[in-house]
Amino acid sequence: MAERDYVAVNREGWTRANAEYTDAQARDAWAQEEITYGKWQLPERELRVLPEVKDKDVIELGCGTAYFGAWLKRAGARRVVGIDVTPAQLATASRMDEHFGLGLELIEANAEDVPLPDATFDLVVSEYGASIWCDPALWTAEAARLLRPGGELFFLRGSTLQMLCMPDEGQVDERLVRPQRGLYRLEWYDDDPGVEFHPSTSELFAILRSNGFELLDFRELFAPEDAVDHEYYDTVPAEWAKRWPDEEIWRLRLQRR
Ligand SMILES: C[S@@+](CC[C@H](N)C(=O)[O-])C[C@H]1O[C@@H](n2cnc3c(N)ncnc32)[C@H](O)[C@@H]1O
Repeated sequence: MAERDYVAVNREGWTRANAEYTDAQARDAWAQEEITYGKWQLPERELRVLPEVKDKDVIELGCGTAYFGAWLKRAGARRVVGIDVTPAQLATASRMDEHFGLGLELIEANAEDVPLPDATFDLVVSEYGASIWCDPALWTAEAARLLRPGGELFFLRGSTLQMLCMPDEGQVDERLVRPQRGLYRLEWYDDDPGVEFHPSTSELFAILRSNGFELLDFRELFAPEDAVDHEYYDTVPAEWAKRWPDEEIWRLRLQRR
């Protein structure tokens, strides 16, 4: 099948991003002992939202440089497979894996079409990977296919409120700047083009339910009171995210059919 238009756009974007991300930065992320979430680095020890990973077979869809997978492997996962569509991101992940010796398995593929058998994993995760860069109707169906019955899906994405307040260029506003009706595919055509997907909460919930998932947990994340603006992800100022949630975590279970 021909590649979907957004896959190439996003691969090019992530190839550019990778060229600006140094191995020293990647090493710092991999070396982090604690599991944290999102740009405000909220610790799992406080949120307690992650499914059990010990002795679990885990796959990350859109693994990037794979620091998140590295944290899960260190937390006791038996197997961590990372899928990503950008060779440069996987090359960084592979250098890090060699350096840290964690034994991640890295595969170049579109997370909407993963070359692995059905019912192979206990946990599918996505930390700003497939969860925002892939078509939700496609990647959540892949997640369901890859999971064993009773397996779990865990992912992070930006909040719907953030998307509604985000102009085509610049920083998030304090008013709604785009309609929620029809919110699904978002295209950024500034100096760093990209295509993201963000169905609203109820629409995403309907897609997940149609793929056999039941919701176990849903969290809206705020910046902590002492947060300062993020160096790299500068479209959401800390002051905004102290008042409104800019990120969210979903945890679901694949029902036994
Ligand atoms: C923010 S990064 C993920 C970070 C990751 N959680 C980590 O630990 O490094 C987003 C990744 O999604 C990947 N991506 C974008 N579209 C994809 C697709 N269709 N299939 C697989 N990966 C994709 C990009 O190549 C990029 O590496």
